[in-house]
Amino acid sequence: MKESKLCKIVKKTERVPGLFDMELYAPEAAREAVPGQFVHIMCPSFENIFLRRPISICDAKDDCLRIVFEVRGKGTYSLSRCQVGDEVDVLAPLGRGFEISRERYRRPLIVGGGIGIFPLYALAKQYQGSAEVFFGFRDQSRVVMEEEFRAVSKELTVMTDDGSNGNKGFATAPLEERLKAGEGDIIYACGPMPMLRIVKRLAEEYKVKAQVSLEQRMGCGIGACLTCSCETVFPGTWKYQRVCLNGPVFWADEVTLHD
Ligand SMILES: Cc1cc2nc3c(=O)[nH]c(=O)nc-3n(C[C@H](O)[C@H](O)[C@H](O)COP(=O)(O)OP(=O)(O)OC[C@H]3O[C@@H](n4cnc5c(N)ncnc54)[C@H](O)[C@@H]3O)c2cc1C
Ligand code: FES
Repeated sequence: MKESKLCKIVKKTERVPGLFDMELYAPEAAREAVPGQFVHIMCPSFENIFLRRPISICDAKDDCLRIVFEVRGKGTYSLSRCQVGDEVDVLAPLGRGFEISRERYRRPLIVGGGIGIFPLYALAKQYQGSAEVFFGFRDQSRVVMEEEFRAVSKELTVMTDDGSNGNKGFATAPLEERLKAGEGDIIYACGPMPMLRIVKRLAEEYKVKAQVSLEQRMGCGIGACLTCSCETVFPGTWKYQRVCLNGPVFWADEVTLHD
């Protein structure tokens, strides 16, 4: 079983209010990590409650794991209060990452929404400029990492719900345009459930392979508690799988993605 490690925070930036970019010194995990995997990190609460929370690995380089997270509740708030030099207890890397092949997939399409864009950075980097990327954000105030993604992608299209940055609408609209034009031999997606459902439908309609990364609430993070179960298709029937262990990345035709 994977053991947790104390990792020093070596960098911390607040990108936009409530959204933190952190680098953790974790040489072994950084060497082992593949895009799509996550860390289960102990968030030292101000109430002396210790909570582990799953956060995607945004990048792994120079012996460090980079994570970018939004403050949502108690766990992420207490993590955001940690400072450079503090040590945090980290289990990493966990889960199944994306299937990546520059030989098999020459025209990858990547789609992300909100906090779902972060695991897609290491993925886009692996494709060395051949991936087209489509992002959706609520509004201009939540748009982050635009230049970083542009630098590692063939093209980046940013959409916002209110049109305050880029075009107005959802990221799946320009994605569908590319599929209609016959582009894309694989789609990778991470974001809110309605976005993942559209990606699953488009993949079926245009007969393109797709992988989706699920953000399920988690308990143990290592397959022991079943908190993170999701329904998956099994020949002729269905079965539950654990997002922390069998995912978070699944083939789109593998998961049912119910409302
Ligand atoms: C595999 C995985 C990767 C993730 N990667 C990132 C990341 O890169 N950056 C990032 O900002 N967040 C990420 N998340 C979401 C993050 O784990 C939650 O926001 C966090 O656990 C909330 O904890 P909290 O104690 O701050 O809030 P809580 O008090 O536990 O909850 C606050 C609010 O957040 C919602 N919430 C809690 N857990 C989740 C979850 N897993 N998914 C969606 N909503 C949730 C709750 O329903 C509630 O509304 C990821 C989640 C998973 C499962
Ligand atoms: S979080 Fe415990 S089994 Fe997945």
